[in-house]
Amino acid sequence: MNFVEVVGIQVDTRHFIGGERIASTETFTNTSPIDGSFLGEISRGGTAEVDLAVTAARNAFPAWAAMGPAKRGALLLKLAELVEANIENLAQLETMDNGSLLRSHRRGVMPRVAMNIRFFAEWAINELKHEVFETRGHSNNISWDPSGVAALITPWNAPLMLATWKVGPALAAGDTVVLKPAEWTPLSASFFADLTVKAGIPAGVFNVVQGFGREAGAALTAHPGISRISFTGSVPTAKVIAHAAADNLTPCSFELGGKSPLLVFDNADLDLAAELAVEQYDNAGQVCLSGTRILVHESVADVFAEKFRDRAAKLTQGDPRDPETDIGPQIHQTHFDRVKGFVDRAKTDGQSIVMGGEPNSELGGLYFKPTLVKNPAPGSEIVTAEVFGPVLCMQTFTSDEQALEMANGTEFGLAAVVVSGSRAHADRITKDLVAGTIWVNCFFVRDLRAPFGGSKKSGVGREGGNWSFDFYADVKNTVISPNGWKE
Ligand code: NAI
Ligand code: MG
Repeated sequence: MNFVEVVGIQVDTRHFIGGERIASTETFTNTSPIDGSFLGEISRGGTAEVDLAVTAARNAFPAWAAMGPAKRGALLLKLAELVEANIENLAQLETMDNGSLLRSHRRGVMPRVAMNIRFFAEWAINELKHEVFETRGHSNNISWDPSGVAALITPWNAPLMLATWKVGPALAAGDTVVLKPAEWTPLSASFFADLTVKAGIPAGVFNVVQGFGREAGAALTAHPGISRISFTGSVPTAKVIAHAAADNLTPCSFELGGKSPLLVFDNADLDLAAELAVEQYDNAGQVCLSGTRILVHESVADVFAEKFRDRAAKLTQGDPRDPETDIGPQIHQTHFDRVKGFVDRAKTDGQSIVMGGEPNSELGGLYFKPTLVKNPAPGSEIVTAEVFGPVLCMQTFTSDEQALEMANGTEFGLAAVVVSGSRAHADRITKDLVAGTIWVNCFFVRDLRAPFGGSKKSGVGREGGNWSFDFYADVKNTVISPNGWKE
């Protein structure tokens, strides 16, 4: 069976290679986190399929690269329009496959998918100026040339959004692409592949190989025929990929996990702080950027905690298709067990769990209650490791110095949220925070022009605007002398 029908939408279960659908003899089972229902047997790729896809992408590369930004852009803008026309289908599919809220997919995530394509297509046309500056009369001419085949490995927490955050700039830069979506959420990438055909993107420019990380992912990242690896996922997997890339010296861009602080100062608007803190449960906590360590000034801790509790108590957990739902299920039994394991060990260690701390027994399945751990033992697992579930920790501080020390005191540096009532104070704090993105009195405001990535173990490199092109392209400087010209 080469197709599955999910909520009335037909999705091909085969790989998409060189413009064709190719089946593997082996498959893996895809399920829905909403209720565990079966969503299909999916082609399970390995070395052979990866070889085919990289070859197809390499063959398609010269013509795609030669088209230039404007012609590529016209096709990519068509693709963005097709995504927009399919927002409802994509939202329904993604919600079934990964259990994130349908209303978020409709309103925010899928429109963002279209933006990811459109923004980078337009940036390549309008913003990547071939800069010129002079050195003793010589001109430096900087260009961003297509580099080859980009290998893109993506996670399951925002499958198509995170995939197109890479696919958009890679294709706009003139690279061709092999995408390996996460094995728990293959459907949206397959549906998207059909849209690339409808948009007129030439065969082989965009390819999808489905399968497990240790099979398809490992074969792809070790392949000598690729020119770039962009990966979003966990730190341990990034290390494996870095080793695989080392033999070919393939440049890597890594966007990894976090244990981001959310700092609430004594001069903060505590209603705003509580609102922002509760937002950290978004996507059932399966967000790399989530500010999972709430650090609050001791003098306002009790008032803040009460406001937080009041707001958290209003969160509705349930079926992500229900518009009233705020928190859906965890993605997969394996992940659910992992999240529960963190909380169970915290309990065994005698940590104070003041909210949640257990599966939602009314709902059963993969639903884990929003959880708060108060004053976790410093250095303990629950406050240092990325849980990637609806689990927040709350700690107190008594000075800015201590707040900064705690905020910066993990191996991660992806994001930070600062809630402060004084601009001068917030400026002093943000200057000393180590993080790729800091939000002051807000959360999740993201502009595709801005750099995005992590410090320390949270990532390698930055993407967004020019940073994306600096990575996917071969940046070239041509120095031209004023002398030696005959015409
Ligand atoms: P993972 O990092 O193993 O998976 C992400 C992607 O990498 C998937 O497509 C997977 O197939 C692929 N992959 C796995 N092993 C590979 C290999 N050897 N070579 C090439 N590709 C490989 O993440 P996983 O196991 O799904 O989740 C574990 C933890 O990772 C989570 O609990 C969370 O803490 C973190 N995570 C962070 C994400 C982020 O957005 N930064 C996203 C997903 C997970
Ligand atoms: Mg699934």
